[in-house]
Amino acid sequence: MNKILVINGPNINMLGVREPDVYGTQSYADLIEFIGIAARECDLEVKSFQSNSEGAIVDEIQNSLGNFDGIIINPAAYTHTSIAIPDALKAVGLPAIEVHLSDINNREAYRQISYTSEACQKTIAGKGFGGYREAIKVLLATFTHSDASL
Ligand code: DQA
Repeated sequence: MNKILVINGPNINMLGVREPDVYGTQSYADLIEFIGIAARECDLEVKSFQSNSEGAIVDEIQNSLGNFDGIIINPAAYTHTSIAIPDALKAVGLPAIEVHLSDINNREAYRQISYTSEACQKTIAGKGFGGYREAIKVLLATFTHSDASL
């Protein structure tokens, strides 16, 4: 069974409380449950990790090497500031999908820059929780495709 790591960055633990007009009323616990269901539907094992610290996210990405087959990451505000996170993603070289709950391309100008995206196969934004399900399906297709070519 393929294993995926879902990483959520700063303030994603505040879902349901933070700016509900932007991020909705469902909580981080609701998101983790949603991701678990979507992963099970695709026969994937999933670990969810959340941190407000850039270094902890870099550590988690580094530790994924040899332990996971793919990464889904919502780096939250670090999307627009961090070079260390895309560097870590490139270092481990696992297939990675970037997800944002909100449509970062139709918000403030500073949110329209993503340093993470160049280290990811795909970016999904503006689809709420559904973006994580879509990312799981993209990773599944990656695994199925590479298994088929063995
Ligand atoms: C976010 C978008 C970011 O700009 C913001 O800093 C977040 C959440 C999203 O999921 O829409 O914290 O990544």
